Amino acid sequence: MIPEPTIDAMEAFLRETARFGNLYLSDEQEAAILDDLRSAGARLLGTTADAVAVVSGASEGLSQVASLLEPEDGTVVLVGSDFPSVTYPWLAAAERGGISLRFVDDRADRDLTRDLVEAIDPATVVVAFGVVQYATGTRVDVRPVADRAHEVGARVVVDATQLAGAGVVDMGAWGADALVTSGYKWLSAHGGVALLALAPDLVPRRPALVGWMGAEHPFAFDPLRLRLAETARRFQLSTMSYASATGLGSSIAMLSAVGFERIEGHARGLAASLIDRVAELGWRPFRPPDDPSAAPHIVSLRHADHDPAVTAERLASEFGIVCGGRGGGLRISLHVYNDGDDVDRLVVGLGDGLAVEAAQPVVRGPALHGDAERRHVRDLDRVVLAGEDRLRQVRADLLRVDVERGDERDVPDVVPAEVDVHQAGDAGGRVGVGVVLDALDQRRRAVADADDGDSHLTHAGSPSSSSGDVPCGQPADPAPSPG
Ligand SMILES: Cc1ncc(COP(=O)(O)O)c(C=O)c1O
Repeated sequence: MIPEPTIDAMEAFLRETARFGNLYLSDEQEAAILDDLRSAGARLLGTTADAVAVVSGASEGLSQVASLLEPEDGTVVLVGSDFPSVTYPWLAAAERGGISLRFVDDRADRDLTRDLVEAIDPATVVVAFGVVQYATGTRVDVRPVADRAHEVGARVVVDATQLAGAGVVDMGAWGADALVTSGYKWLSAHGGVALLALAPDLVPRRPALVGWMGAEHPFAFDPLRLRLAETARRFQLSTMSYASATGLGSSIAMLSAVGFERIEGHARGLAASLIDRVAELGWRPFRPPDDPSAAPHIVSLRHADHDPAVTAERLASEFGIVCGGRGGGLRISLHVYNDGDDVDRLVVGLGDGLAVEAAQPVVRGPALHGDAERRHVRDLDRVVLAGEDRLRQVRADLLRVDVERGDERDVPDVVPAEVDVHQAGDAGGRVGVGVVLDALDQRRRAVADADDGDSHLTHAGSPSSSSGDVPCGQPADPAPSPG
């Protein structure tokens, strides 16, 4: 999603252009829009401004790189389930002849980094991959791949679109030869702008595609001599979307101020809670969260009995939760604006929940009309409406807590709440039950503490408290669904 200050910056730019055209935009100011973004992009990606070009899409950048490197023969190593923008330039190159392609699988039972390293042999000329796989969230450790590739003289092309903005990108430390990121995914800007960064020895090469904005002096308009910029600016083509470029600069500034390690840590906390809580519902992540090759911000959940695409549709229509069915999994994206309430909603949605209100305002939709129910629901901190299976499970948990504690006193407090909301649910034509999550959570925690962390109680559907550690004050809208 796009933060408000970014929308404001874009809107201001567009309004100015709509009113005055270029009247108040000098050539220097126009050039500065992209130059400033190149500097910000360099800090973001761990390289220098001279090595960065602003392009209009990751696909453009990746195609530029493929043309720049286009080897006459040899093997290009790719990931078979990567985003098509990474593989298409090489499929096209293979069609033109000369090179062959080797695809490595992203398998849950294998380490993708190791498989990439092992796929490299003396015939390898290029290794190209997304550092975080868009469908599964598998993360590649770039350094060992680059080390092995460079041993055999191959180049490494990294698409960081699914990492930049959500975690640390460090092209220099990774040893990548070329790196691209789109601006409209985790970088939280609008489409039509992307960054391309090149290793120093690739910067002076002549791009396959050239445009007037790549000239050393674009505003000299010299049609007879091709004098390209000496920096990676030579890869810039045209009068691109300056509004998007302005927006990307704003979003990079905001995200950088929060800090990418912190953003990653936030996603890690949410992912751990989510994975823990959906386990009892039969949803498993593609890779366990403690696997170093599992990126925390993209969790791909799988279920033996549920089609992820169908579940994604149901979550969207019934709960307003946006996530995608991708690569055989339900892809959950966890960014800086998501919080524990979003995880609560998702957990209930993935259960047999029919509707959920996990945060204020708690009353919404026809199921909760009627004054009595409204009043009652408002009295509660957090209410979840769930189906009958879920109720049974929660009741069983409650009873187990009480039996183990020898304390049944609190059960009646919870059950009437369930009954009232149940009636409200019936009124809406659905069977629903209310569960007071905070009460349940507190009770579980108390038992877990007394019990020295008896894990089956804290684990079984225990809702995490809203973490409250969201670094950025964005509203807890549905999670984004990056491509
Ligand atoms: C990994 C990856 N690379 C590239 C793209 C496409 O970027 P663009 O539209 O800027 O070409 C996407 C879009 O989802 C993506 O996930």
